[in-house]
Amino acid sequence: MKTAVSLQNLPSRIPNRRSRVRKPRRSRRSSVQLDRVVARLPSIVGGGSVLTDRAELVCYSYDASCYSRLPDVVVFPNSSEEISKIVRLANRERVPVTPRGAGTSLSGGPVPARGGIVVVLARMNRILDLDEDNLTVTCEVGLTLRDLNRSLARKLLHFPIDPGSSEAATLGGMIGENASGMHSPRFGKTKDRVLSLEVVLPNGDIIHVGSKCFKSASGYNLKELFIGSEGTLGIVTKATLRLSPLPDNYTVISASFKTTVAAGRAISRVVKRGLPVSALEFMDRPSIEVVKAFTGLPLPQAAAMVLIECTGPEGEVQNHLADAAEILREEGAFELRISSDRGEADRLWHARKVTYGAISRIRPTAIQADPVVPVSKLPDYLARLDLIAQKYALKIVSYGHAADGNLHPTVLIDEGNPEEMRYARMALAEIYQSALELGGTLTGEHGVGVEKSDYFNLEWPSNVVSVMREIKAVLDPNNIMNPRKWI
Ligand code: LAC
Ligand code: ZN
Repeated sequence: MKTAVSLQNLPSRIPNRRSRVRKPRRSRRSSVQLDRVVARLPSIVGGGSVLTDRAELVCYSYDASCYSRLPDVVVFPNSSEEISKIVRLANRERVPVTPRGAGTSLSGGPVPARGGIVVVLARMNRILDLDEDNLTVTCEVGLTLRDLNRSLARKLLHFPIDPGSSEAATLGGMIGENASGMHSPRFGKTKDRVLSLEVVLPNGDIIHVGSKCFKSASGYNLKELFIGSEGTLGIVTKATLRLSPLPDNYTVISASFKTTVAAGRAISRVVKRGLPVSALEFMDRPSIEVVKAFTGLPLPQAAAMVLIECTGPEGEVQNHLADAAEILREEGAFELRISSDRGEADRLWHARKVTYGAISRIRPTAIQADPVVPVSKLPDYLARLDLIAQKYALKIVSYGHAADGNLHPTVLIDEGNPEEMRYARMALAEIYQSALELGGTLTGEHGVGVEKSDYFNLEWPSNVVSVMREIKAVLDPNNIMNPRKWI
């Protein structure tokens, strides 16, 4: 089991990442307010829906990042009205509230950094309305993406946002972090497919933002304010989502390169050509090797592999892929495979999807970054990642959503080794700093959470952070919603 980095007993600002290396312990919060909240919760959700036993709390203390902190109490509400009552109570008693989906976040977003109440949305998993005429679905957001897509497949529809954790992630988690993943070149990010939201505000009010219509210019775009806000402004409870018909045919090209930089050049030229690809992914040699060993798939021996998928009418797909193949060859691709056979294409996507799980097995700790650079800067960024790995003598594996310029450099270390941990922190700081220097952003899809909170001020100047703080203060004046993160 991987070591958890506890946030227990830290000051309200997190000054030093090394101080987080603690075993999870129960919060020292034993205030009268907390006791009152814990005593009242069963009357809101029912006795069987409240956990306070330490062994059970541990299960809700961490996500897929390496951070953890025990909550004081965990609740499983059944409705927005119950959530409203929970939040109203917590607000009155000034007890922190952290919403949680399936806990697949890689940034520490659902880790209750100040303890308090974890609100698990798992029981709110109903599909409320499928509108096939308008290609929309309205659901409670504790529903998992997999369950939604299994139901939609019967109607030859799908919700096409495709994060690496698509087998487990909930819609609420995806909305909280503005998840995207492999098919964003064609289908966009979560924010592009959410039409409207129901949100419980920190004062307990239930509001509806956005509209079922495909466009609206009516007032401030409050819907997008909540998407990617990581539960710091309220709890999203329901969403209306825009669907797509399931693609009936797709073809995948895989291309091998002798250097990551050559692959980066090829990717940026394919994007510049404006080819309508539905996915364009990158894997470096260590990720190819690890996935090969993990899955037994016959992946190439190469410094980098690029996967490009096109969907649509057969003739068009062949033309676009022929254009892409020409660019790939010009940039030095030495092995090009075109897989129109659905089974083979699915195996390639499976290889890409299991990459994070496979590389996490190499060392006790995998810290995955999530930076984005303008796609033309990918070759520069890949070269810098190589230099950072050499400089700190660390294993850094990189792969990701290349068409978006979104990479997942993953630092593999043993957290029990303080020296390695120190170098990992220095390397991560350079990984983020280099992305920002190239005009990039800290996170494309995993969110800031705990993982990037130390770097938030590097990206945003103080006058921008002040605007965010003012918005937070208006909606959550008592700072109860997922406190002690980046805001
Ligand atoms: C992926 C996840 C980890 O792309 O974001 O594999
Ligand atoms: Zn990803």
